Amino acid sequence: MTTILTIGMIREAADYIRSKTKTTPKVGLILGSGLGVLADHIEEATSIPYHEIPYFPQSTVEGHAGELMIGTLNGTPVVLMKGRFHMYEGYGPELTAFPVRVMKELGVQTLLVTNAAGGINTSFQPGDLMLISDHINLTGTSPLIGQNDNELGPRFPDMSQAYSRRLRELARKTAEQNGVPLQEGVYVGLLGPSYETPAEIRMLRTLGGDAVGMSTVSEVIVARHAGLEVLGISCISNMASGILDQPLSHDEVMETTDRVREKFLSLVLAIIPAM
Ligand code: 6GU
Repeated sequence: MTTILTIGMIREAADYIRSKTKTTPKVGLILGSGLGVLADHIEEATSIPYHEIPYFPQSTVEGHAGELMIGTLNGTPVVLMKGRFHMYEGYGPELTAFPVRVMKELGVQTLLVTNAAGGINTSFQPGDLMLISDHINLTGTSPLIGQNDNELGPRFPDMSQAYSRRLRELARKTAEQNGVPLQEGVYVGLLGPSYETPAEIRMLRTLGGDAVGMSTVSEVIVARHAGLEVLGISCISNMASGILDQPLSHDEVMETTDRVREKFLSLVLAIIPAM
């Protein structure tokens, strides 16, 4: 079911957030499973639980705290989602991306999306960080389905540079300067919540995928529709199904993101002021 989310609803949510803070955020951040540590580094932070914000869904997964934080990170005014909404929770794609619309309304111009993803590329290792060069949307749906509101963006948005070339160059340069190794590749977004079969992973590799996950694509589609510049970073939390002779688990995802914390933090904290 597609929920119609109007400009009025977007403004109502943004107005509520503005009533809680004086900060006008410039950069939006969405933090994936286990990557919420960045939130601890926000200065003069205002936290708003998702359930307080008009029309916001509530996240239900372990490892995803549900709050919106506004403040400064390394001097840059940001709005940060600690925990995101997934389609496997039962939300339509337009709902999972609603916060991106609200960020835009708050004044955000660039969006940094992060996630924990399974490695499809066999040269990757759990714990690697991957700059997202592009994505393949295999969720079978789009957050833009339904009547288009031209005030929000075009009917047929261009996706030829979904992940900004400028921000990718910035990320590569910053990674190098900070001695953080950075892989690069294509993120495949699926519905979940079951992990893929080995046959599905072989298929995704043939299709050009380097990492696979259950988030991000709907948020990025809406961000591009809204004219936001996007940077994406995946934490390779585990190898995808069939690569290693072991079962996949959410525990492994959380263990790896724990281990990668410092590397992830130093990279992202260095990138944000230059976004
Ligand atoms: Cl292997 N698959 C999917 N769909 N999502 C993931 C993952 C794998 N590892 C972390 N998140």
